[in-house]
Amino acid sequence: MNYSRFITSVSAARKASPIRVLTELMQKSPPSLISLAGGAPNPAVFPFKKATIATGHGNAVEIGEDLMKRALQYSASAGIPELLSWLKNFQRNLHNPPTANYSPEQGQMEVCVTTGSQEGLCKVFEMLINPGDSILLDAPTYSGTLAALRPLGCSIINIPSDQHGIIPKALKEILSAWSPEDIKNHSRPLPKFLYTIPNGCNPTGNSLTTDRKKEIYQIARKYDFLIIEDDPYYFLQFEKVESRFSDRPQASHRQSYSTHSGFYNAHQHFHTDDNITASSAVGRKGFLGAHRQSCGVLQDPAGCNAHCC
Ligand SMILES: Cc1ncc(COP(=O)(O)O)c(C=O)c1O
Repeated sequence: MNYSRFITSVSAARKASPIRVLTELMQKSPPSLISLAGGAPNPAVFPFKKATIATGHGNAVEIGEDLMKRALQYSASAGIPELLSWLKNFQRNLHNPPTANYSPEQGQMEVCVTTGSQEGLCKVFEMLINPGDSILLDAPTYSGTLAALRPLGCSIINIPSDQHGIIPKALKEILSAWSPEDIKNHSRPLPKFLYTIPNGCNPTGNSLTTDRKKEIYQIARKYDFLIIEDDPYYFLQFEKVESRFSDRPQASHRQSYSTHSGFYNAHQHFHTDDNITASSAVGRKGFLGAHRQSCGVLQDPAGCNAHCC
C-alpha cells in the first residue's frame, strides 16, 4: 500500500535530522570512537548518579551509575534499542500483527517511543490531517482526542455507537454520501481515517465486538480509509480472553492504523497489515508501533527523543 495519499505534505517533506542519524551510528560504534559531530554532554556532570525505585510489590528497581549515564545521555530518536526490542516483542506476543513478520522492504513493523498515548495521537493526527480533510470519529469520544484534532481544522464526522461500539450500519449510511470511486475524485475527498477506542471506550465504557470489527474493516477497505485504534484499557477488563489471535480479521493489504495508550490485547484489535500503536504504560512511557513508512515519518519531527528504560 502506498501511504502518500494519507500523509500531509509537511510530513512527507520531513527528512531525518543528520545529527540524529549520527547518534544512531554512534550507538553502533565501538566505545573507543570519539565523535566530534554531535554535542553529547559529559556524563560525569549529570546531576543524578543512581536511583532505587520502590515498587508496589515490595521489589526495588535499581538504576546503577552506568545505566543512569546512558539514560540521561542522548540516544536514537525512536528510543534505546533494548527498549525498542522489548516493545516489539510485547507487540508480537500480544497482537502478532502481520507486519511483525514482514521484511524491512515490505514495511516491517517499527516502534517509536513516546511520552504517552496523547503524544502518540498528536503525532499521528499531525502526520495525517490537512486542514479541510474529513475524518470519522467513534462518538462520543475522549476529550484529549478532540483537543488534539480541533486545531488541525479537519471536518469531524461522528459515527454513532451503542454498547457494542461503532454501529457498522450507521457507518455505511454516512459513507453512502461518497462512492469508493471518489478516491480518484479530488473535489470529493473520502474521509482519511476512522478513530476508535475499541475497549472500554472513554467516556462510554463500550467495547467493539469482533464481528463488528470485521464488518468495519471491510468498509474501511471499500472506502480506503485508515483505522486508528486508541486502546488504553485492555488490561482493565473483568473477563480474560482465552484465545489471542484466532478472531483476528486477516487483511491482504495494509489498511489499519492503531493508536493505543496503556496495555492492550491482541484479540481486541483490527490486526490488519499495518498498525500504529501509541501506548503508554507504567510511568507515563508510551510508544508507537507502525509500518516502517509511517513510523519513519512519525519519528523524525520529534528529532530528539532521549528515553530511559
Ligand atoms: C482513550 C484515551 N486515550 C488516550 C489517553 C491519554 O493517555 P496518556 O495519559 O498515556 O497520554 C487517555 C487518558 O485518559 C484515554 O482515556
